[in-house]
Amino acid sequence: MFHPALFKGANVVVTGAGRGIGLEVARQFLDCGAHVLLHGGRTAATELPEFLEIAVAEARAHIVHADFLQQDGIATVARRAEDLFDQVDVLVNNAGTMVGRFPAGEITDAEYETVVRLNQTSVMEMTRALLPHLRRAPQAAIVNTVSISALTGGSPGSSIYSATKAFVATYSKALARELAPDAIRVNCVSPGTIETDFHQRYSSPEKLEATRKAIPLQRLGTAEDCAPAYLFLAAGSLSGYITGQVLEVNGGQLIC
Ligand SMILES: NC(=O)c1ccc[n+]([C@@H]2O[C@H](COP(=O)([O-])OP(=O)(O)OC[C@H]3O[C@@H](n4cnc5c(N)ncnc54)[C@H](OP(=O)(O)O)[C@@H]3O)[C@@H](O)[C@H]2O)c1
Repeated sequence: MFHPALFKGANVVVTGAGRGIGLEVARQFLDCGAHVLLHGGRTAATELPEFLEIAVAEARAHIVHADFLQQDGIATVARRAEDLFDQVDVLVNNAGTMVGRFPAGEITDAEYETVVRLNQTSVMEMTRALLPHLRRAPQAAIVNTVSISALTGGSPGSSIYSATKAFVATYSKALARELAPDAIRVNCVSPGTIETDFHQRYSSPEKLEATRKAIPLQRLGTAEDCAPAYLFLAAGSLSGYITGQVLEVNGGQLIC
């Protein structure tokens, strides 16, 4: 694992950190000495994991809830970050989900808007809102969660979701150039098929087993497999010469 002081003194914001990949990313940043603002999704959990309870009690972790489909969702998180931190060193835009499987001929305007607003527009809005705070850090990093489906197109019913992830990947590449003069690096982590609530919602056990068999490493991924890629891309001391890249974390599911 990384050095326990790798992010000592750093302020980190992670969205979609109520569970799954985002929660593990937040845990690993905390383990490396960061102060972390976790956006815990839309609603407060009835129980926090022990590591988080301790970190909150010690004021190393702070939790905010907001629905990114609502008018004030992004601003709520940005305001909390402003209240807590003089500067933001790392922004992880991770909140997102497929919402549902929508066949191309049947998807409604409202469903389309929801998928785009959550997975695409919210990333732009959060980045825009926190940019003044990222600019205050001597060396800041943005790490955006995309998906293997940004390259493959995903599976039936996920066309809009997959396209939003491709948008975020391309947006991140453009931002990397634009923000380089401000010493802000921008990269993406692209998970393959990761065992979180995500696939319990949108994929059958049979589909997941077929996917597992086709993965060269012969297993589905975990949040623990993904999180170190975020820390690596966020740490100037480890990846200071890497910007505008997408790091695929998929057990070899896509090799190209
Ligand atoms: N799991 C995979 O195989 C996989 C593969 C490729 C990419 N990804 C991407 O990885 C990221 C994390 O996914 P995960 O697998 O960890 O899924 P997850 O366990 O479903 O977590 C998704 C997170 O996003 C939040 N979120 C969902 N809708 C929201 C809304 N309207 N407003 C604010 N927050 C909302 C959730 O909070 P709530 O409690 O409010 O739902 C949750 O914290 C996502 O961007 C996903 O697209 C996942």
